[in-house]
Amino acid sequence: MKKLIGQSKIKTSIFISGTGSNLKNLIKFSLKKDSPILIKNVISNNPKAKGLIFAKKCKIKIKIFKFNNKNNNENEILKYLKEDNIFLICLAGFMKILSKNFIKKFKGKILNIHPSLLPKYKGLNTHQRALKNNDNFSGCTVHLVNSKLDSGKIILQKKVKIYKNDSSTRLEKRILRQEHVLYPKAIKKLLFNL
Ligand code: GRF
Repeated sequence: MKKLIGQSKIKTSIFISGTGSNLKNLIKFSLKKDSPILIKNVISNNPKAKGLIFAKKCKIKIKIFKFNNKNNNENEILKYLKEDNIFLICLAGFMKILSKNFIKKFKGKILNIHPSLLPKYKGLNTHQRALKNNDNFSGCTVHLVNSKLDSGKIILQKKVKIYKNDSSTRLEKRILRQEHVLYPKAIKKLLFNL
């Protein structure tokens, strides 16, 4: 892989469903000279995902798959990714669960970012759950995607302190800031260790 990176950038697809702050951050990262990735396209199940606006501005191809028929949609996505020679998929706030079959096709090459210190708080409402349990820390995790929700191999994590009287909104904001630092680092780590 080190050799590969020296020659050409890793063709990457980002999957989103919403705001896209991580997408925006990854696009900026990909535009740096020493970035190992080239973002070829952005895929969303939600045509109204805010993140798509930034992708368009940056002239990155976007594609909507509605996921009304998962099987068919996933096959279409696989075809689309193949056309663009995609090697790496980064999920960034993508709210659909990919099938075992899809994941198998990109084994070890799908990353996700999750707003908790996994294995704690898989799934949704992570900040509320951390606060309810009076945890001293929460954080974020970049992990490989396997067939179990938020359970794949952890690539990198970052702890974030929880303060007295913290609110989930404030905690979410602070964690998101760290997500933006963590995701590019985790991508580099994964690619350089392949
Ligand atoms: C982030 O908190 C990420 O960890 C989670 O979904 C959120 C996406 O935020 N998977 P954004 O759309 O990247 O702003």
